[in-house]
Amino acid sequence: MKKITVAVMGLFVAGGAFAAPDWDKVPPRKMTLFYPGQASYEWVMNKADHSAVPDIVDKKRPCAKCHEGDASEIGDKIVAGKPVGSSKSVLEPTPPKGKAGSIPITFQAAHDGNKIYFRFEWVPPKIGDKKMDAKNEVKLAMMFDGGGTVEGSGLNGCWSTCHQDLRTMKSPKDDKKTKYIKDADLAGGKFMDLMQFRSGKGEKPVDGHVTDQRYNDGGKSLLKAEGKKEGNKWVVTFERTLAGGGKGDHSIAADKVYNFGIAIHEDHTNARFHYVSLGYQFGLDKAMPDVKNYINVTKQ
Ligand code: HEC
Repeated sequence: MKKITVAVMGLFVAGGAFAAPDWDKVPPRKMTLFYPGQASYEWVMNKADHSAVPDIVDKKRPCAKCHEGDASEIGDKIVAGKPVGSSKSVLEPTPPKGKAGSIPITFQAAHDGNKIYFRFEWVPPKIGDKKMDAKNEVKLAMMFDGGGTVEGSGLNGCWSTCHQDLRTMKSPKDDKKTKYIKDADLAGGKFMDLMQFRSGKGEKPVDGHVTDQRYNDGGKSLLKAEGKKEGNKWVVTFERTLAGGGKGDHSIAADKVYNFGIAIHEDHTNARFHYVSLGYQFGLDKAMPDVKNYINVTKQ
C-alpha cells in the first residue's frame, strides 16, 4: 500500500505540480557568448598557440577568470578572420560577412526542491541570408557534468567536448563527427548531460548527452524546453527534474558543484558556427562569493 502512494506522488510532481518560478525574483547573471571559430580544445590547450596553458594546467585558472572581460573582443577578432593567440592563428578561415562576434545574454536559474529551471534572454544579432539549418532560426543548448565528473570542465565548461577533428573544425575526421569526451564513461558519470531548445515548428526538446559522440535522446529529465520572441528579444526556458531519470541524465544534488557551458546557434547556423560561453558552475543553495564564474541556484 505504502509503495503505491509513493509512486503516485512521484508522478504528480513530475507532471508539473509546481509553477515556474517568479523570474523577477531570481538574480540575473550577465554572460557574453562569443564566436569561437575553430578554437578547439587542442588549440586552447597548446602552449604555442595560447600562452595561458601553464596557468590553466598548473594554477587551475578558469577561462572565465581571464576572459569574462574580453570575450566580446575575442569573438570580434575570430569572426573577422583576424590572427589570434601567441601563434597568430586564423581561427575562422571563411569569415561570415557581417556576423556579430558575440552576444550578451542574461542567465537565470532557480529550483523548487524537485525541479530546476533555467532562463536565457538575449537580443538576436543581425540575420544573414545564408541558411545552414533552414528549419531552426535558433537553437540553444546547455551542457553540464555530474559535479566534477568531466576532467577540465570546472575550468572550461564545454571545451572538453570540442575537438579539432569534428565536422567543420580544422582537421575533420569526416562530415558527421560530433562532439565527444576523451575516455568518456557513461556508467561512471564521465559525460556531459545536454539539453537543447530548437525554434523550428514541430521540433522537440533535445534531452541527450555527450560521451564518445553527441546523442540527441535517451534523457528523461527535461520536462520542457520552450522559447519565444518577446519584442526584440528571445526568451528560452528549461524545466528539468533534479533527479536524473534516463540515459545520460545527471542527477542534481545539493552537495555538489556542477560545471556547465551554453551555446546558441543564431541565424540558422549549424555545427561550430555558434556562440559559446566560457565555463561556469552552479550549485543548489550554496553561496561561493569568491568564485566569479559560479552561480548560486536558490530555492524559490
Ligand atoms: C591566465 C589567463 C588566461 C586563461 C585562464 C585563459 N586564457 Fe585564453 N588567452 C589569454 C591571453 C593572455 C591570450 C592572448 C594570446 C596569448 O597570450 O596566447 C588568450 C587568448 C585566447 C584566445 C584567442 C583570442 C586572442 O585574443 O588572442 C582564445 C580563443 C582563448 N584565449 C580562449 C581561452 C579558453 C577557452 C580558456 C579556457 C580553457 C582560456 N582562454 C583561458 C589568457 C588566458
